[in-house]
Amino acid sequence: MSARVLAPFGARSTDVVTRRATGGYVIFTALDHSGPDPAPGQFYMLSAGSWGSDSGRPFLPRAFSVAAAERAADGVRLEFLVEAVGPGTALLAALEPGQQLTITGPLGRPFSEPSEVSPGAHGAILVGGGIGIAPVAILRRHLSSQGIPMRTLLGFRDEAHSGGLELFGACQEVGLAFEDGHRGHQGYVTDLLQVALKGDESTHAAVYACGPPAMLEAVRQICSDRDARAELAMESPMACGYGACFGCAVPLAAGGYMRLCVDGPVVRADEIETALVAGSGHRDQ
Ligand SMILES: Cc1cc2nc3c(=O)[nH]c(=O)nc-3n(C[C@H](O)[C@H](O)[C@H](O)COP(=O)(O)OP(=O)(O)OC[C@H]3O[C@@H](n4cnc5c(N)ncnc54)[C@H](O)[C@@H]3O)c2cc1C
Ligand code: FES
Repeated sequence: MSARVLAPFGARSTDVVTRRATGGYVIFTALDHSGPDPAPGQFYMLSAGSWGSDSGRPFLPRAFSVAAAERAADGVRLEFLVEAVGPGTALLAALEPGQQLTITGPLGRPFSEPSEVSPGAHGAILVGGGIGIAPVAILRRHLSSQGIPMRTLLGFRDEAHSGGLELFGACQEVGLAFEDGHRGHQGYVTDLLQVALKGDESTHAAVYACGPPAMLEAVRQICSDRDARAELAMESPMACGYGACFGCAVPLAAGGYMRLCVDGPVVRADEIETALVAGSGHRDQ
Protein backbone atom coordinates (compact mmCIF):
# COMPACT_ATOMS: atom_id res chain seq x y z
CA MET A 1 0.00 0.00 0.00
CA SER A 2 1.10 3.58 -0.65
CA ALA A 3 2.23 5.68 2.28
CA ARG A 4 -0.41 8.00 3.64
CA VAL A 5 0.11 11.75 3.88
CA LEU A 6 -0.06 12.51 7.59
CA ALA A 7 -2.64 15.03 8.76
CA PRO A 8 -1.53 17.95 10.90
CA PHE A 9 -2.77 17.58 14.47
CA GLY A 10 -6.31 18.87 15.10
CA ALA A 11 -8.95 20.61 13.00
CA ARG A 12 -8.27 23.80 11.05
CA SER A 13 -10.38 26.47 9.45
CA THR A 14 -10.47 26.89 5.67
CA ASP A 15 -12.21 29.38 3.35
CA VAL A 16 -14.83 28.26 0.85
CA VAL A 17 -13.81 29.92 -2.43
CA THR A 18 -16.13 28.45 -5.06
CA ARG A 19 -19.42 26.56 -5.20
CA ARG A 20 -21.32 25.23 -8.19
CA ALA A 21 -24.18 22.83 -8.77
CA THR A 22 -23.38 19.94 -11.11
CA GLY A 23 -26.38 17.77 -12.00
CA GLY A 24 -27.79 16.49 -8.71
CA TYR A 25 -24.53 17.15 -6.84
CA VAL A 26 -22.56 20.21 -5.68
CA ILE A 27 -18.82 20.87 -6.06
CA PHE A 28 -17.20 23.32 -3.66
CA THR A 29 -13.60 24.38 -3.23
CA ALA A 30 -11.98 25.14 0.12
CA LEU A 31 -8.63 26.88 0.46
CA ASP A 32 -6.52 25.06 3.05
CA HIS A 33 -3.80 27.56 4.02
CA SER A 34 -1.57 25.28 6.06
CA GLY A 35 -2.29 21.62 5.23
CA PRO A 36 -0.22 19.23 3.08
CA ASP A 37 -1.24 18.03 -0.40
CA PRO A 38 -3.51 14.97 -0.04
CA ALA A 39 -2.87 11.71 -1.92
CA PRO A 40 -5.62 10.27 -4.17
CA GLY A 41 -8.08 8.20 -2.10
CA GLN A 42 -7.55 10.14 1.14
CA PHE A 43 -10.44 11.89 2.85
CA TYR A 44 -11.19 14.76 5.23
CA MET A 45 -13.62 15.11 8.12
CA LEU A 46 -15.69 18.25 7.41
CA SER A 47 -17.99 20.46 9.47
CA ALA A 48 -19.32 23.98 9.10
CA GLY A 49 -21.46 26.73 10.54
CA SER A 50 -23.88 25.77 13.30
CA TRP A 51 -22.58 22.18 13.31
CA GLY A 52 -22.62 20.63 16.80
CA SER A 53 -24.60 23.49 18.35
CA ASP A 54 -27.94 23.39 20.19
CA SER A 55 -29.71 23.59 16.84
CA GLY A 56 -29.52 19.79 16.56
CA ARG A 57 -27.98 17.37 14.05
CA PRO A 58 -25.34 17.11 12.73
CA PHE A 59 -23.18 16.83 15.84
CA LEU A 60 -20.16 14.99 14.41
CA PRO A 61 -18.03 15.95 11.37
CA ARG A 62 -18.69 13.98 8.16
CA ALA A 63 -16.18 12.10 5.96
CA PHE A 64 -15.53 13.29 2.37
CA SER A 65 -13.12 12.08 -0.27
CA VAL A 66 -11.08 14.80 -1.89
CA ALA A 67 -12.01 15.01 -5.59
CA ALA A 68 -9.22 17.37 -6.70
CA ALA A 69 -6.32 19.19 -5.04
CA GLU A 70 -4.23 21.98 -6.51
CA ARG A 71 -1.32 23.74 -4.84
CA ALA A 72 -1.50 27.56 -5.04
CA ALA A 73 0.63 30.34 -3.54
CA ASP A 74 -1.75 30.73 -0.58
CA GLY A 75 -2.35 27.04 0.19
CA VAL A 76 -3.92 23.95 -1.35
CA ARG A 77 -7.30 24.23 -3.08
CA LEU A 78 -9.38 21.20 -2.17
CA GLU A 79 -12.43 20.25 -4.25
CA PHE A 80 -15.25 18.18 -2.75
CA LEU A 81 -18.21 16.62 -4.55
CA VAL A 82 -21.29 16.41 -2.33
CA GLU A 83 -24.68 14.78 -2.59
CA ALA A 84 -27.17 16.12 -0.03
CA VAL A 85 -28.64 13.05 1.66
CA GLY A 86 -29.04 14.27 5.26
CA PRO A 87 -28.42 17.20 7.62
CA GLY A 88 -24.60 17.28 7.30
CA THR A 89 -24.42 16.97 3.53
CA ALA A 90 -27.29 19.51 3.18
CA LEU A 91 -25.28 22.10 5.15
CA LEU A 92 -22.14 21.40 3.13
CA ALA A 93 -23.96 21.53 -0.20
CA ALA A 94 -25.38 24.95 0.75
CA LEU A 95 -21.99 26.51 1.62
CA GLU A 96 -21.25 29.71 -0.29
CA PRO A 97 -17.92 31.41 -1.11
CA GLY A 98 -16.70 33.44 1.87
CA GLN A 99 -17.99 30.97 4.46
CA GLN A 100 -15.73 28.91 6.70
CA LEU A 101 -15.29 25.14 6.57
CA THR A 102 -13.57 23.21 9.36
CA ILE A 103 -11.44 20.29 8.17
CA THR A 104 -9.32 17.51 9.65
CA GLY A 105 -7.08 15.66 7.25
CA PRO A 106 -5.90 14.37 4.89
CA LEU A 107 -6.79 11.03 6.51
CA GLY A 108 -6.56 7.35 5.65
CA ARG A 109 -4.63 5.20 3.21
CA PRO A 110 -4.54 6.35 -0.42
CA PHE A 111 -4.65 4.33 -3.64
CA SER A 112 -1.42 2.52 -4.55
CA GLU A 113 0.45 2.92 -7.82
CA PRO A 114 -0.63 0.40 -10.53
CA SER A 115 2.65 -1.55 -10.25
CA GLU A 116 1.99 -2.00 -6.51
CA VAL A 117 -1.57 -3.22 -7.13
CA SER A 118 -0.55 -5.64 -9.88
CA PRO A 119 3.16 -6.21 -10.66
CA GLY A 120 2.46 -6.87 -14.36
CA ALA A 121 0.14 -3.87 -14.80
CA HIS A 122 0.60 -1.88 -18.01
CA GLY A 123 -2.27 0.43 -17.18
CA ALA A 124 -5.30 1.07 -15.02
CA ILE A 125 -9.07 0.68 -15.18
CA LEU A 126 -10.91 3.22 -13.02
CA VAL A 127 -14.50 2.49 -12.02
CA GLY A 128 -16.73 5.07 -10.30
CA GLY A 129 -20.38 4.91 -9.27
CA GLY A 130 -22.57 7.84 -8.20
CA ILE A 131 -20.96 10.20 -5.70
CA GLY A 132 -18.13 7.64 -5.53
CA ILE A 133 -16.62 9.20 -8.65
CA ALA A 134 -14.94 11.80 -6.35
CA PRO A 135 -11.77 9.85 -5.44
CA VAL A 136 -11.68 8.35 -8.95
CA ALA A 137 -11.35 11.90 -10.36
CA ILE A 138 -8.27 12.81 -8.33
CA LEU A 139 -6.72 9.41 -9.03
CA ARG A 140 -7.28 9.86 -12.77
CA ARG A 141 -5.44 13.19 -12.72
CA HIS A 142 -2.57 11.65 -10.77
CA LEU A 143 -2.16 8.66 -13.13
CA SER A 144 -2.58 10.86 -16.18
CA SER A 145 0.24 13.19 -14.98
CA GLN A 146 2.50 10.11 -15.01
CA GLY A 147 1.42 9.10 -18.52
CA ILE A 148 -0.13 5.83 -17.32
CA PRO A 149 -2.64 4.48 -19.88
CA MET A 150 -6.09 4.01 -18.42
CA ARG A 151 -9.78 3.62 -19.05
CA THR A 152 -12.35 5.37 -16.90
CA LEU A 153 -15.81 3.84 -16.45
CA LEU A 154 -18.48 5.85 -14.65
CA GLY A 155 -22.01 4.77 -13.74
CA PHE A 156 -25.07 6.57 -12.38
CA ARG A 157 -28.67 5.73 -11.61
CA ASP A 158 -30.25 8.60 -13.62
CA GLU A 159 -29.72 12.27 -14.41
CA ALA A 160 -30.96 13.49 -11.03
CA HIS A 161 -28.43 11.23 -9.30
CA SER A 162 -25.38 12.16 -11.34
CA GLY A 163 -22.93 15.03 -11.77
CA GLY A 164 -19.28 15.99 -11.52
CA LEU A 165 -18.28 14.75 -14.98
CA GLU A 166 -16.33 17.98 -15.47
CA LEU A 167 -13.88 16.69 -12.84
CA PHE A 168 -12.72 14.34 -15.61
CA GLY A 169 -11.98 17.21 -18.02
CA ALA A 170 -11.87 16.44 -21.70
CA CYS A 171 -11.18 12.81 -20.94
CA GLN A 172 -11.88 10.94 -24.18
CA GLU A 173 -11.68 7.47 -22.74
CA VAL A 174 -14.58 7.79 -20.27
CA GLY A 175 -17.21 5.06 -20.65
CA LEU A 176 -20.61 6.01 -19.22
CA ALA A 177 -23.43 3.82 -17.96
CA PHE A 178 -26.83 5.02 -16.76
CA GLU A 179 -29.33 2.61 -15.26
CA ASP A 180 -32.18 4.52 -16.93
CA GLY A 181 -30.34 4.44 -20.28
CA HIS A 182 -30.74 8.14 -21.06
CA ARG A 183 -27.02 8.33 -21.89
CA GLY A 184 -24.24 5.81 -22.53
CA HIS A 185 -24.72 2.13 -21.84
CA GLN A 186 -28.09 1.20 -20.31
CA GLY A 187 -27.24 -0.79 -17.22
CA TYR A 188 -24.50 -0.99 -14.63
CA VAL A 189 -20.96 0.33 -14.85
CA THR A 190 -19.84 -3.19 -13.93
CA ASP A 191 -21.18 -4.36 -17.33
CA LEU A 192 -18.52 -2.07 -18.86
CA LEU A 193 -15.90 -3.48 -16.51
CA GLN A 194 -16.71 -7.05 -17.65
CA VAL A 195 -16.04 -5.99 -21.25
CA ALA A 196 -12.88 -4.06 -20.34
CA LEU A 197 -11.46 -7.11 -18.56
CA LYS A 198 -11.94 -9.41 -21.55
CA GLY A 199 -8.88 -10.95 -23.15
CA ASP A 200 -5.50 -10.51 -21.54
CA GLU A 201 -6.38 -7.18 -19.90
CA SER A 202 -7.35 -8.70 -16.59
CA THR A 203 -3.83 -9.45 -15.43
CA HIS A 204 -2.31 -6.41 -17.14
CA ALA A 205 -4.54 -3.75 -15.61
CA ALA A 206 -4.80 -2.54 -12.04
CA VAL A 207 -8.47 -1.92 -11.23
CA TYR A 208 -9.52 0.92 -8.91
CA ALA A 209 -13.12 1.44 -7.80
CA CYS A 210 -15.32 3.60 -5.58
CA GLY A 211 -19.10 3.56 -5.46
CA PRO A 212 -22.07 2.09 -3.63
CA PRO A 213 -21.50 -1.15 -1.71
CA ALA A 214 -23.39 -3.28 -4.27
CA MET A 215 -21.19 -1.91 -7.06
CA LEU A 216 -18.01 -2.48 -5.08
CA GLU A 217 -19.06 -6.02 -4.27
CA ALA A 218 -19.72 -6.70 -7.97
CA VAL A 219 -16.28 -5.27 -8.84
CA ARG A 220 -14.70 -7.45 -6.14
CA GLN A 221 -16.35 -10.59 -7.51
CA ILE A 222 -15.64 -9.82 -11.18
CA CYS A 223 -11.97 -9.14 -10.40
CA SER A 224 -11.72 -12.29 -8.29
CA ASP A 225 -13.26 -14.41 -11.10
CA ARG A 226 -10.84 -12.97 -13.67
CA ASP A 227 -7.77 -12.93 -11.45
CA ALA A 228 -7.53 -9.13 -11.74
CA ARG A 229 -6.03 -7.16 -8.86
CA ALA A 230 -8.13 -4.31 -7.53
CA GLU A 231 -8.25 -1.63 -4.88
CA LEU A 232 -11.60 -0.41 -3.55
CA ALA A 233 -12.24 2.91 -1.79
CA MET A 234 -14.87 1.89 0.76
CA GLU A 235 -17.18 3.66 3.14
CA SER A 236 -18.61 2.96 6.53
CA PRO A 237 -20.13 5.27 9.09
CA MET A 238 -17.27 7.28 10.62
CA ALA A 239 -17.64 9.09 13.93
CA CYS A 240 -14.03 10.13 14.57
CA GLY A 241 -12.01 9.48 11.37
CA TYR A 242 -8.74 8.73 13.20
CA GLY A 243 -9.05 5.28 14.75
CA ALA A 244 -10.56 6.00 18.17
CA CYS A 245 -14.22 4.89 18.02
CA PHE A 246 -14.15 1.60 16.03
CA GLY A 247 -17.40 2.68 14.33
CA CYS A 248 -15.92 2.01 10.89
CA ALA A 249 -14.75 -1.61 11.40
CA VAL A 250 -15.19 -3.99 8.43
CA PRO A 251 -14.56 -7.78 8.40
CA LEU A 252 -11.36 -9.11 6.81
CA ALA A 253 -11.24 -12.21 4.58
CA ALA A 254 -8.55 -13.67 6.85
CA GLY A 255 -10.68 -13.09 9.97
CA GLY A 256 -10.76 -10.13 12.30
CA TYR A 257 -11.55 -6.53 11.40
CA MET A 258 -9.90 -3.40 10.05
CA ARG A 259 -10.80 0.19 10.86
CA LEU A 260 -11.55 1.78 7.51
CA CYS A 261 -10.53 5.27 8.62
CA VAL A 262 -6.92 4.32 9.38
CA ASP A 263 -6.39 1.00 7.52
CA GLY A 264 -8.55 2.18 4.58
CA PRO A 265 -10.62 3.68 3.11
CA VAL A 266 -8.68 2.16 0.21
CA VAL A 267 -8.40 -1.61 0.64
CA ARG A 268 -7.16 -4.46 -1.53
CA ALA A 269 -10.19 -6.26 -2.97
CA ASP A 270 -8.86 -9.65 -1.83
CA GLU A 271 -8.33 -8.34 1.71
CA ILE A 272 -11.99 -7.99 2.67
CA GLU A 273 -14.70 -10.58 3.17
CA THR A 274 -17.34 -8.47 1.40
CA ALA A 275 -17.90 -4.89 0.29
CA LEU A 276 -21.50 -5.13 1.52
CA VAL A 277 -20.75 -3.59 4.88
CA ALA A 278 -23.70 -3.09 7.21
CA GLY A 279 -24.70 0.54 7.63
CA SER A 280 -22.49 1.85 4.82
CA GLY A 281 -23.33 3.69 1.68
CA HIS A 282 -26.49 5.38 0.53
CA ARG A 283 -28.25 4.22 -2.62
CA ASP A 284 -26.23 6.38 -5.01
CA GLN A 285 -23.02 6.60 -3.11
C1 LIG B 1 -14.26 7.81 3.46
C2 LIG B 1 -15.59 8.41 3.04
C3 LIG B 1 -15.63 9.27 1.95
C4 LIG B 1 -16.86 9.86 1.56
N1 LIG B 1 -16.86 10.71 0.48
C5 LIG B 1 -18.00 11.32 0.14
C6 LIG B 1 -18.01 12.27 -0.95
O1 LIG B 1 -16.99 12.53 -1.59
N2 LIG B 1 -19.19 12.88 -1.24
C7 LIG B 1 -20.36 12.61 -0.53
O2 LIG B 1 -21.40 13.22 -0.84
N3 LIG B 1 -20.38 11.72 0.47
C8 LIG B 1 -19.23 11.08 0.83
N4 LIG B 1 -19.24 10.19 1.87
C9 LIG B 1 -20.50 9.91 2.52
C10 LIG B 1 -20.84 10.99 3.52
O3 LIG B 1 -19.89 11.01 4.56
C11 LIG B 1 -22.25 10.70 4.11
O4 LIG B 1 -23.19 10.80 3.08
C12 LIG B 1 -22.55 11.71 5.18
O5 LIG B 1 -21.81 11.36 6.34
C13 LIG B 1 -24.03 11.72 5.51
O6 LIG B 1 -24.21 12.71 6.53
P1 LIG B 1 -25.58 13.49 6.69
O7 LIG B 1 -25.56 14.20 8.00
O8 LIG B 1 -25.84 14.33 5.49
O9 LIG B 1 -26.65 12.36 6.67
P2 LIG B 1 -26.99 11.26 7.78
O10 LIG B 1 -28.30 11.63 8.40
O11 LIG B 1 -25.82 11.00 8.65
O12 LIG B 1 -27.21 10.05 6.80
C14 LIG B 1 -28.20 10.12 5.78
C15 LIG B 1 -28.19 8.82 5.03
O13 LIG B 1 -26.93 8.74 4.33
C16 LIG B 1 -26.38 7.46 4.50
N5 LIG B 1 -25.06 7.56 5.12
C17 LIG B 1 -24.73 7.97 6.35
N6 LIG B 1 -23.41 7.89 6.55
C18 LIG B 1 -22.90 7.41 5.40
C19 LIG B 1 -21.59 7.11 4.97
N7 LIG B 1 -20.51 7.23 5.73
N8 LIG B 1 -21.43 6.68 3.71
C20 LIG B 1 -22.48 6.56 2.91
N9 LIG B 1 -23.72 6.81 3.26
C21 LIG B 1 -23.94 7.22 4.49
C22 LIG B 1 -27.32 6.64 5.31
O14 LIG B 1 -28.07 5.81 4.42
C23 LIG B 1 -28.24 7.62 5.96
O15 LIG B 1 -29.52 7.13 6.06
C24 LIG B 1 -18.04 9.58 2.28
C25 LIG B 1 -17.99 8.72 3.38
C26 LIG B 1 -16.78 8.13 3.76
C27 LIG B 1 -16.74 7.22 4.94
S1 FES C 1 -14.19 6.37 12.41
FE1 FES C 1 -13.60 6.12 14.50
S2 FES C 1 -12.28 4.37 14.41
FE2 FES C 1 -12.73 4.77 12.34
